[in-house]
Amino acid sequence: LEVHHYSSIDSTNEKAKEKQGIVVIADRQTAGRGRRGRRWYSEEGGLYFSISLPPHLNMEDLPKLTLTTGVAVCEALSFANAKLKWPNDVLVGGKKVCGVLCEVVGEAESPAVVVGIGINVTNPIPDELKDIATNLLEFGVGRKEIFEKVVGNFFRLYRKLPSDWEEIRQRWKELSDTLGRIVEIRVAERLYRGIAVDIDESGALILDSNGKVERIFSGECFYLQ
Ligand code: BTN
Repeated sequence: LEVHHYSSIDSTNEKAKEKQGIVVIADRQTAGRGRRGRRWYSEEGGLYFSISLPPHLNMEDLPKLTLTTGVAVCEALSFANAKLKWPNDVLVGGKKVCGVLCEVVGEAESPAVVVGIGINVTNPIPDELKDIATNLLEFGVGRKEIFEKVVGNFFRLYRKLPSDWEEIRQRWKELSDTLGRIVEIRVAERLYRGIAVDIDESGALILDSNGKVERIFSGECFYLQ
């Protein structure tokens, strides 16, 4: 595996788009990006890396890839009893410790994909985020150790896609912090409210919205309870 290391870079996702089949890691990012056009604080001490994947999955399999990435991180952070918040945040003690940003490169039906992973390890959490975000400082684990575990888990699981998705789906459900909760999901202009009941075979979140079943492939999830 080709790993490109930078002490500082704008965004590892951007760099990883330049070549397929590599991993780009940086000690800090000057323009770290989150989902929905938000920024991702990327001070030194955190783990910021992107895995660039050659075409392998079809567009309709990408929700599975997103969920699979969450499982890979969550299992690597089992020492912290990490849980998954749909679609792919990893929580420790109910607060976000990791975010995943999957981006498609180009417009093919089976596209190259960049999977960006940001994990708060010993980097300080800005005051305004302390209620919702945390780091792994108290666990005394190194970035290198976590990086190796996540990458190892990722490729072990990724090899199973798309055929053995069922196994990963079950694992996601076991690690879920979201299923069973009353949630609000924002997707573009739409807003759904209901009980998160399942992840289905296609990777969609199943919401029971007053008896009406909604299937949602991506969006922003808020816990109402
Ligand atoms: C989120 O909004 O939860 C996703 C955050 C993803 C952050 C990672 S850090 C490495 C990679 N490079 C980026 O610019 N973003 C992702």
